[in-house]
This record gives sequence, C-alpha cells and structure tokens, in this order.
Amino acid sequence: MSQTTVICFANNKGGSGKSTTCCNVGYSLAAEGNRVLLIDGDMQMNLTLSFFDDEKSLELAKSGKNLYTAIKEERDLTPFILPTEYEGLELIPSSTLMSSIEFELFPKWQRELILRQGLKKIRQSGRYDYILIDAPPTLGCWVMNIMCASDYLIIPVEASPWGLFGIANMFEFYEQVQRIAPDLKLLGIAVTKVNERKNYVKQTMETLNALEDVTLFSTYIHTDSTIEWSQDNSKPVMAYKKNSRAAGEYLQLAKEVINYVNR
Ligand SMILES: Nc1ncnc2c1ncn2[C@@H]1O[C@H](COP(=O)(O)OP(=O)(O)OP(=O)(O)O)[C@@H](O)[C@H]1O
Ligand SMILES: [Mg+2]
Repeated sequence: MSQTTVICFANNKGGSGKSTTCCNVGYSLAAEGNRVLLIDGDMQMNLTLSFFDDEKSLELAKSGKNLYTAIKEERDLTPFILPTEYEGLELIPSSTLMSSIEFELFPKWQRELILRQGLKKIRQSGRYDYILIDAPPTLGCWVMNIMCASDYLIIPVEASPWGLFGIANMFEFYEQVQRIAPDLKLLGIAVTKVNERKNYVKQTMETLNALEDVTLFSTYIHTDSTIEWSQDNSKPVMAYKKNSRAAGEYLQLAKEVINYVNR
C-alpha cells in the first residue's frame, strides 16, 4: 500500500493564486501518473468551478454532496468523492454554504481536527498518492482544520506590491498550528502572477529570500491570460492548451513538488 501525501495551499492574502495552483499542480501530478484527490475548502468554489460549469457546481452546492455537509455532519469523506473527466484525478466539491463553517465548527469536540478525522479512512486506504486541499483566504478554525489534516503547506504568493502584506500573520498562524500538528511542514513558497515588464518580482524575491528557513520553488508562474480562459471553460490549463506557457510552468512546479516531498 502506497503512502498518501496531503498538501494544502493557503495564504490569508486573497487572490494570491491558491485555487489556480492547487488545480494545476493537481492536474500535472495526475498527468505524471499519480493518483490525485483535490479538495475544495473554499465557499467561493473556485476549485470546483475549475472542473464543473456553474450550473453543475451550484447543483453540487445545493445537493449536500459536498465538503460542507461532510464537515457539518462529521462524516468520513469517501462518499463525497466525485470523478472528474481526467484519469487519476478526483474531487470533493465545496459549497457556498461553507461561509458558515466557522459557526458549525464552534461547538464541536476537538474542532480543529474534524477534517483530519474525515480523511483518515481515505489516507489509510492508500487510494491516492497526493491529496491537495485549497484553503480560503482566512486564518480561522477552518483553515486550522485544513492545515492539521495536511503533511505540507504551500504558500502561493503573488508578485505584486501588496502580495507580501500580511505574510507575517500567515507565518505566525502556521507556527500556532504546528503546536497542534507538529509534523506539518512548509514545503515552499510558490511565486505566481509574475509580470516581467513590472519590477515587482525582483522586489518580491528579495523580500522572500531574506526570510529564514523558507524554501522558494524555483519555478515562477508568469501571468498568462490562458489561465483565465481555461477557468472560463472549467478546465485545468494543461487540458485547455497543452502548449501554453502556464501549462509548462505548472508541470515544472509539480515536478519540483514531487522532488521536495521525496527529499
Ligand atoms: N498565472 C496567472 N495568470 C493570469 N491570471 C491568473 C494567474 N494565476 C491566477 N490568475 C487569476 O488571478 C485571480 C486569483 O487567482 P486564484 O483564484 O487562484 O487566487 P486565490 O488565492 O485562490 O484567491 P482567493 O483568495 O480568493 O481564494 C483569478 O481571477 C485567476 O484567474
Ligand atoms: Mg481561491
């Protein structure tokens, strides 16, 4: 039975590329022959929308076949898994109702560990090589659940003037979570939405390089409108346009992720 590696994508800064990176690293890992489960942990349902159109996603949100119901009812997550149209890639969808997840968690016993418990059987089954979880842009009990259920954290950072604002809060939160989940490791920071005509990437890299004990992935994801087109078509970028720059960069990043996990 093979071991499952759980990786979450989190950053309290909104729009830093968490959902895009989770979707496209997940797709690339599956394209490399891995068995992958994606979990949408955000009420915005962006990861779900990356695979299903608006109508189907709303139907999933309303039907109860989603992560919100599973967490609220403290269920094993196995029955909530859906196939995607891609081999080796499955998904647990989110719901717009996730907006009240903090409220639902509040009275629960060991409320930071509900997701970890829900994933236990799936991990034990060895059914997946990787489970990737997309977090919302918040730092509360729910994101704590996501981190406590993970072996590794990847922080996507946008190369923009405000991209690093609040990153100190993110590190502080990660350290707090490590008290409950001491095995959680920061796998690395992934720099996204790089526009070489602007100078922010240099500034961003200088600031990030000055941080101690933090690994940066050497692959940067450049701004590429193909990403938005692929999302508009509910497809990962590699499935939408295999030869695009973004597809190549995400495959490269996924290979780095594999190497970092195995080192
Ligand atoms: N490399 C890229 N090139 C162009 N657009 C991008 C790229 N990466 C992400 N985007 C766009 O930037 C926006 C934010 O990306 P994304 O939704 O992945 O960030 P997020 O961190 O998940 O946001 P949130 O905090 O709201 O969950 C989206 O509209 C997405 O289409
Ligand atoms: Mg998102």
